[in-house]
Amino acid sequence: MRTQVGIIGAGPAGLLLSHLLHLRGIDSVVLERRGRDEIESTIRAGVLEQGTMDLLTEAGVGERMKAEGAVHHGFELAFEGQRRRIDLTGLTGKSITVYAQHEVLKDLVAARVAAGGKVFFNVSDTSIHGIETDHPSLRFVYEGEPHEVQCDYVIGCDGFHGVSRAAIPAVRREDYERVFPFGWFGILVEAPPSSDELIYARHERGFALVSTRSPNVQRMYFQCDPADSVDRWSDDRIWSELHARVDSSDGQHVVEGRIFQKNIVGMRSFVSATMQHGRLFLAGDAAHIVPPTGAKGLNLAVADVRVLTAALVAFYKEGRTDLLDAYSETALRRIWRAEHFSYWMTRMMHRLDDASPFEQRLQVAELEHVTTSRAAATAMAENYVGAVAV
Ligand code: APR
Ligand code: PHB
Repeated sequence: MRTQVGIIGAGPAGLLLSHLLHLRGIDSVVLERRGRDEIESTIRAGVLEQGTMDLLTEAGVGERMKAEGAVHHGFELAFEGQRRRIDLTGLTGKSITVYAQHEVLKDLVAARVAAGGKVFFNVSDTSIHGIETDHPSLRFVYEGEPHEVQCDYVIGCDGFHGVSRAAIPAVRREDYERVFPFGWFGILVEAPPSSDELIYARHERGFALVSTRSPNVQRMYFQCDPADSVDRWSDDRIWSELHARVDSSDGQHVVEGRIFQKNIVGMRSFVSATMQHGRLFLAGDAAHIVPPTGAKGLNLAVADVRVLTAALVAFYKEGRTDLLDAYSETALRRIWRAEHFSYWMTRMMHRLDDASPFEQRLQVAELEHVTTSRAAATAMAENYVGAVAV
């Protein structure tokens, strides 16, 4: 098999890249380890920046997102028994949309299938060859048979645990990493929204987040031990923890409902510098991870794809390689901005077991500052909506 761009991974990065290339007349093949049902049902985050919405719309997959996504013009910070609002639109002129990542994936898969896109699900033994030559290839097993795709470029969109990052020689790689000693316990609940906007709560017992999926389904999280097990958390125990962390002294409280999904995720910050070697380019979680506190993961993956699409189009339409050569540097500037923001927000909002009482008071002082100083609130809002120029 021969294609122009060989893509590993059918997450948001791989599928969006494949579809945008198709719209510009560039052929690609996508290889995915998991099944279509599995990728379409894996629960992940759901905050889309305006720039993400714009690119999905440009790709022709924005219709359902616009109809079903909820536009949010602000969010609340809860601390010391009170709630303070960050007015995203008032401070930046922009908003965010809450629309689950697996819904984005369903829209992308449907668009690829409708366009006759070559997406192979349930592949195994993916391997990358010849990235230091101008004719790289991908080998994989599909339906029990070995296959090979010859291509001009290989794009690793295979997430943090994929194979592509490791294909870059160790001497060229520099990994930067911080693993946090806490995780998030996430639940999906059948209930009306507890609040019109997301609530990020800092509490002595730990962080909590109240988010939403639809008028009838809510998403909530609370900080937990990453080694904990969901079986140890009865519904009653979950609700009492959420009430303790989120309810405010003026009577606003989390609305309970039937919990139908529970999961625990670990938290890490990670950056792979470089994101390119020879004819191999990394995009999305394959190259970087942020803790979910700033809701940047999906948006960063989409932003990588925007830069990479423009660079590949410049190569195929004009024979230029300057944008491809600059890809890693261009993408990493924005990635480091988002890494800093996500780390900053994580440190401000979570219970840090190594923090002294002095440092805990600093967290509260910082929350006071970002909710009372217009300049500080603007900086936070610009980062949250993705309006920072880098
Ligand atoms: N061969 C083929 N596919 C693979 C391989 C492999 N060896 N290894 C991993 N994959 C697939 C995974 O099964 C997954 O579907 O690559 C895909 C990577 O998708 P994501 O992890 O969703 O990564 P990405 O597209 O970069 O999107 C980043 O996803 O993890 C969230 O919070 C993150 O929102 C962010 C977004
Ligand atoms: C979510 O709705 O899943 C969500 C929202 C905001 C975050 C992280 C996750 O910061």
